[in-house]
Parts: sequence; structure tokens; C-alpha cells
Amino acid sequence: MTTEPTIAWRDGAVELIDQTRLPAELVSLRLTTVPGVIDAIQRLSVRGAPAIGVTGAYGVALAAAASDPRTDPAAFAAAVAALRSARPTAVNLARMVDRVAGAALAAAGDGAEAALAEAHRVRDEEREASRAMGERGADLVLDLVGRTPVRAMTICNTGALATVERGTALAVIQTLYERGVLAEAIAMETRPLLQGARLTAWELGRMGAPHRLAVDGAGPFLLARGAADVVLIGADRVAANGDTANKIGSYSLALGAARAEVPFLVVAPESTVDMATSGGDQIEIEDRGPAEVVAWGGVATAPPGTAAVNPAFDVTPVDLITALVTDRRVVRFDQGETLASASPQEL
Ligand code: MRU
Repeated sequence: MTTEPTIAWRDGAVELIDQTRLPAELVSLRLTTVPGVIDAIQRLSVRGAPAIGVTGAYGVALAAAASDPRTDPAAFAAAVAALRSARPTAVNLARMVDRVAGAALAAAGDGAEAALAEAHRVRDEEREASRAMGERGADLVLDLVGRTPVRAMTICNTGALATVERGTALAVIQTLYERGVLAEAIAMETRPLLQGARLTAWELGRMGAPHRLAVDGAGPFLLARGAADVVLIGADRVAANGDTANKIGSYSLALGAARAEVPFLVVAPESTVDMATSGGDQIEIEDRGPAEVVAWGGVATAPPGTAAVNPAFDVTPVDLITALVTDRRVVRFDQGETLASASPQEL
């Protein structure tokens, strides 16, 4: 839980909490150019599917202010293309960039003004979505677990830092805590970049929620030993069949949860559901290269020249997912529901 907004628009610039500096320092970045926004997304100064969607949206507002979409369409289109492909796996980025670019191009008046207004709408919708997911997800957890207090396991960072406020899976944990029914959250540390240790433990600490940190390899074993009543993860892209891409390590937790008969819930806004992607095998998984695997904080953790493979995400097949909770619906995959059969509630 942060009290500072993760992402804000101030005086013609995007201001972000620089997540690469946490937990040591809470500092902001001020971005005034499209290359600056792309760099911040790629370095993970801002990360998490909804947060990069909102940042990309503001990036388009900067692009429209720099190159008028009507009088300089080629420069605007080039900036939009660069923004939408800064990271490939989370559908939110390309989707929100396209949405805001569309608004700028369709505007009868000032394209830059229209882009900024649309980017603000994207931000406001994500903020509302977090609150709805938290409530709906907490209701479902209590229903599935059937007793209180609840012990929840999670991976990566899905809190306010990954969205605008409150988060996705971590919003559910925060809501359980606020309702007085959270016994403990177990945060997986999330190698190689430690989003769980650096960011989730920091957010849980600031909200005052009881929590412990565990190494990634301990997840399935802890589930087998009955250490958690529910696993809650976020998502970078939910395919039309329900297969879900999320931070590497999610699939291992899903396998462990299935074996231990622990409910495994995906919590994501509708903006992360991608009906144009049929299944998980169609989702592009970002490989972030070997450097993050063979060193930490500038110190080598493997012999010089060690080759490494570094998928930033994995795909959990739908048959391992109990349910998807969005801001507008719960899809009970375990009861045979599908994204097509369980329509979102009208807003
Ligand atoms: O590489 P990251 O830190 O951007 O990965 C983020 C995740 O995998 C999150 O779980 C996901 O985006 C959901 S965030 C609400």
C-alpha cells in the first residue's frame, strides 16, 4: 500500500515511483519524453500489467503533445508503435496505447488534449477496478475457504505499485486484512528481480498486514504442508480459454496448489483479458536475457560466461485455475464456466 500515487500526471509530465529503488528509497521519476517512458517501462521502474497500461496511456499523451497526430501523423505513429511494444506480454500496454492513440486521432479538436483526457480515464478506470476486484475477490476467498482467518500465498507484486491503487491479487489480500480476517500473507520472493521481496513485502509492511517471505522453490512444499488456504496471483494476459500468463513461478504454485487441493485464483481487471488470443500457447513471453540471472546488484552469482535462460513470465493452463476474479465478474473455471459463458456485469 502506497500513500503516494504510483503514477501521476503533473505539469505536462508523467511522475512515477521508481520501483527499481525500492525498498531502499522511495523516489519519483519525472518523464517528459516518449523515449523516457519506454526506458522506464523496460527497466521496470514501472511494472505490473495495469501500471504499464496507464503509463503507456500517458506516454501517448506526451507523443501527441510532441507530434501533432494530424499534422505530423508519421512521427506520432512511430512513437505509438514504440510505446506499444516496449514490453510484449502484458496486453494492457498495447491495448491502452492503442485506445489513447485512437482518441487522439478521432478528436475533432486538439489531439493532445483528447489523448490526455483519455489517459486520465484509463487511470480512473484502473483505480475503480482495483477496488471492485478486492471486494469480489475477498468474498470469493471467504466462500471457498469456508473459515477465518485466512492464510494467503502470492507471488510477484500485484499491489498499488503494479496498478494505480490497491492492486489486483494484493487488493484482495488488503481487503481481507481490512475486514480483519487475514491470518497471514506468504509472499514468494520472485526471482530474479525480487518483486515479491522488494515490493510486496514493502507494501504489506506499510499496510501493517502480517506476512512472511519465502523463496520461490518453497511454494509447492509449503502448500503441501498446509501453510496456505488460498493462492492469489495477478495476470499479464488472460487468453480467451482462460490460460493465464503471469510472473515466472506462478505455474509451479498452480501445480502445487492443485496437488494440495488449495484454491488457485487469478485476479485481474477486464483490461487484462484478451479474447483475441485463443490460448496460452499464443502468448508471447518476454525473455529478459541472462544478465538478471547470473548477477544481483552488480555482483556475479554464477561463474563468468554462464549461459542463462530468463523467461519473465509463465503460462498457467486454465485447468489448474479455480477461478478468475475481475472487476466485473467471477469466472468459476472449476465449475465449468468459461470467459464466453460468464459475461461481465454491465458498469
Ligand atoms: O515483470 P513484472 O514485474 O512487470 O511482472 C508483473 C506481474 O507478473 C504481475 O503479477 C502482473 O502484472 C499482475 S500486476 C497487477
